[in-house]
Amino acid sequence: MDPIAVPPISLVGDGLAVACADGRERPYLSFDAAASTAALPSVVARVEELLPRYSSVHRGAGYKSQVTTAAYEGARAAALAFAGRDGADDIAIICRNTTEAINHLAYRLRLDRTDVVVTTVVEHHANLLPWSRAATCRYVECGPDGTFEPADVERALAASPAPRLLAITGASNITGWQPAIGPIVEAAHARGVPVVLDAAQLAPHRPLPRTPDFVAFSGHKMYAPFGAGILVGPRAAFSDGDPFLAGGGAVDLVDLDEVAWTAPPDREEAGSPNVVGAVALHAAIDELAAAGWPALVAHDRRLAALLRNGLGEIDGVRLLGPPTDVETLPVATFVVAGMPHALVAARLSVEHAIGVRHGCFCAHPYLVRLLGLGRADVERFRGEIGRGDRSNTPGAVRASAGINTGERDVERLLQAVASLASGEPPPFAYELDPATGDYLPPVEVAPWAHELRDGAASCSPG
Ligand SMILES: Cc1ncc(COP(=O)(O)O)c(C=O)c1O
Repeated sequence: MDPIAVPPISLVGDGLAVACADGRERPYLSFDAAASTAALPSVVARVEELLPRYSSVHRGAGYKSQVTTAAYEGARAAALAFAGRDGADDIAIICRNTTEAINHLAYRLRLDRTDVVVTTVVEHHANLLPWSRAATCRYVECGPDGTFEPADVERALAASPAPRLLAITGASNITGWQPAIGPIVEAAHARGVPVVLDAAQLAPHRPLPRTPDFVAFSGHKMYAPFGAGILVGPRAAFSDGDPFLAGGGAVDLVDLDEVAWTAPPDREEAGSPNVVGAVALHAAIDELAAAGWPALVAHDRRLAALLRNGLGEIDGVRLLGPPTDVETLPVATFVVAGMPHALVAARLSVEHAIGVRHGCFCAHPYLVRLLGLGRADVERFRGEIGRGDRSNTPGAVRASAGINTGERDVERLLQAVASLASGEPPPFAYELDPATGDYLPPVEVAPWAHELRDGAASCSPG
């Protein structure tokens, strides 16, 4: 048997040499795990093992179909167990990602404008927009440090009219802060309100709490970037009514004027599923289980402390979110005094081969609060963006670590940020592209930075 790996655990592509603007190559260092992770080698191995046997699922009598179906259903069972729900009458629906899972659920719950969904200003857009489109949202506010108390959620749950649902994140993608999900779910259940947990960030870092009614997470954030995500919920919630997607595989019988939908979970998965993605996710779940939560959580805590304390101690760097004595995931979002976020991210990439994310992180209401922007500021930026000018788009820089991040990686990031914050002049003048808000090195210095752009902004509109 292979020895059990202990984090940091290498990922495919770690240490890839990339060109920097001084003409040297450096090993690429990803501090962007909160957006997407590279694959675990065991994930790729499992995919390669499946591919020679790959065939259609559910509808084929041949050997390969049987093997593929067993692999797909094995992945579903693993996802349910990962969410701690294998003993109950719950199902796991295999979809693309957390965004699709939450949209799926918002459709399935048959909400209308008279329904109130309690959610929070801390949420990623994936856990805001599906609810505000389908129902009327009541938002739990946060303080300037980006946190709220369970009592704040209780007040929103107790307000009239009574809510039909609470949709809340397990951890913020900007600050890594984790709301106290246990007491919050208890308070919701005491009022008969079901809870949806957006576990996109939480899933790779902490055991999933069992009490929320619905849980959504994404494979590409947990070392299985093959396009599968999961929605877990009670079977009964999917037993009646039209599925989100209509088509083959979701039915028992079809006549031209009649359809008999089949039982969940198949009812919720019309069309040919992403077997490779599901198998990849299964392999990632197995590897996380083999490492064990105690080792994974200890690794995360060590990194979070190094990252957040280290950044917080650099002159000219302001860390957003709760103070460093509040436990968070290994995610740190910061601004550097006097330097646009897009320039910080560009310089980390071009001069240091460090990949971070910058901008608003698909959680605009939360970032606006963390930056302390007023309504007038937001209106001004809205006007500028409407005119196609993103030069001044507000934002910050996010460094997020994962299972492959080591302490020396954090030191390398801190040194790079410290040199930028100390006012070290850039080796050349970066050019601002107002259409995207991105900063670019001169084309003769780093032609690759221009060739790879393809018109896309690194701080996407999000
Ligand atoms: C907290 C949170 N929720 C939801 C999402 C959406 O995940 P996906 O892009 O996999 O649908 C993200 C992605 O960054 C996230 O961080």
